Order: sequence, then C-alpha cells, then structure tokens
Amino acid sequence: MKNILVTGSVGQIGSELTMELRKRYGNDNVVAGGRKTKPSEKLLNSGPFEVVDCTDIDVVNDVVRKHEIDTILHLAAILSAVAEANPQLAWDVNINGLYNVLEVAREHKCAVFVPSSIGAFGPSTPLDNTPQDTIQRPNTMYGVTKVAGELLCDYYYKRFSVDTRGVRYPGIISNETLPGGGTTDYAVEIFYEAIKNKKYTCNLGAGTFLDMMYMPDAIKAAIDLMEADPARLKHRNAFNVTAMSFDPEIIAAEIRKMIPDFTMDYDVDPVKQGIADSWPNNMDDSAAREEWGWEPEYTLPVMTKDMIEVLSKKLVQK
Ligand code: SER
Repeated sequence: MKNILVTGSVGQIGSELTMELRKRYGNDNVVAGGRKTKPSEKLLNSGPFEVVDCTDIDVVNDVVRKHEIDTILHLAAILSAVAEANPQLAWDVNINGLYNVLEVAREHKCAVFVPSSIGAFGPSTPLDNTPQDTIQRPNTMYGVTKVAGELLCDYYYKRFSVDTRGVRYPGIISNETLPGGGTTDYAVEIFYEAIKNKKYTCNLGAGTFLDMMYMPDAIKAAIDLMEADPARLKHRNAFNVTAMSFDPEIIAAEIRKMIPDFTMDYDVDPVKQGIADSWPNNMDDSAAREEWGWEPEYTLPVMTKDMIEVLSKKLVQK
C-alpha cells in the first residue's frame, strides 16, 4: 500500500480508518474520498480530499489516475436499515458502486479492500458459532448486496487477478463518527444516552445477541488483512471477524458498572428486529485467525470503559 484511496471516508469506519492510514503511510499518500456529507476539519486539513461518487465510474477513474492509486479501501456503502427503506439506492451504491471500483481496480491494477458484514447471512444460516463457509441466503437488500459483493470480489480475483480482500464486519462501536442507519446502531447510541440522560430506549429487544467490535479493532482488521501474506490466504471475500457478542441487557449491565443509575427500556423497531433476528448471534472467526493472524484487543468491559471515558470528555466540551 503506497498510494491509497478511501471511499466513504466521511462515514463511521472511513473517517477513523483514513486518519490511521495517514499516520502509517503518510498524510499525502492517503486520499479521502467522500460524496455528500461534509468532511471534518481534521480529515480536510490532514491530507488530500476528493469528491468521489462511486456510482460514477469516470469520477473513480479520474481520482485513481490523478493520484496514482494502488490500493482502494472501498468503504462507501448504504447500511442495513436505510437499505430496507430504500432498496433501489442500496443496490445502486452497494452493487453498481462496487462494480465501478472493481473495474477501475482491474484497469489500474489496484488492490481492493471491501467490507462485507454479518448482514451477508440470513435466517437459514446456523446462527450460533456461524462458520466461515456456510449458507448465505439473506432476506434483506443489504444482505443481498453484501453476498453479491463477496462473490463479485472473488470473481475479480480469480478472473482478473485483482487483489481483492474483505472481512465480514459485525456491529462497529465508535466514539467519533456516528453510524448511519444500521441495525447495530443501538450499541453506539446507548453510550451517548447513558452519558447525557442516564436512560435509553432500545430499539432491539432483550435477548437479541449480535457480534460487535470496537473501532480500533475494526481498523486493525482492515490494515492487517491488506498487509497479510497472500500465500497464506485460502479465503478472500470475506473473512468472519468478531470481538464480542452481547444483547442489550448485557451491554446495559456493563454500562451500569460505571453509571450505576443508568436505566433502559424498550421500544422495539419491527424492521430492525427482523433484520437482527436473521443475523448470527456469534460468528466463528477462526479462518481469519489462522490465515492472517486476526486477534481483537478489545473485550466488552475494556471497550465500555474506554467509550464512557472518551465520550464523557467530548460531551462535556460541547
Ligand atoms: N452495522 C451494520 C448494519 O447494522 C452491519 O453491517 O447495517
């Protein structure tokens, strides 16, 4: 990775991933690509920024050519709940956008990282200890685009030798940029509400177990996989990765260790609940561990402590 383009760099993962890549590979060597959300001052002032709408192949092509990009981390995507509300948009961004990126990568011989998701599984998948290779019949538009994306990336690797790699991210918890319209967003919102109001109304029901991960581990997963020795990779698109699995009751109890008077009630969103019920309770990520040394650092208690400390300071400053 020498000259890197991050699409979706203004989003939840992209914003922090871009800053970490700039730290490691040099500010000028990491181009932040964003579409319509206003980038933060930090992102704008620390390196190159380009307006990149992935659904326009000419724009992707021009930016890759101009900056002599050799690696694209393609983070631009529509998340699950928004995708259910607007399936046509989700198909356009998640499929046509990915196709454009892969075509440009083929032409310019770029490596490509594409995040897949726990959303690539569905109700007929074994939901406990979900294997790396198993049934993938999702019943959401988000899931359809994620499975198709995994297949497309594998196809570009086999057919055109494009160095495609990806992980199936679980819900990502972070304290900088908010997620936009996912099913796992509650696990971020709960921290903001616990700190600000000491109470939270959860839109997923008690007993809804999902895989989760703290942002530093999500960033590490992307970079470690892209740096991995290709000779060791038996899989490519996409590796199960997880760091923890909990339901709303468990995370609330963990928060209560630091904010004892925190209370939570429920107002279940049927669309999000339906999506969450079709996703794994916990994934088996042994293939990632074996093939490229994946090992998360943050457990639920360590993450919770860090989230509350960092966010408490931030929310006081505001
Ligand atoms: N966090 C994502 C979502 O909820 C899962 O990939 O849509």
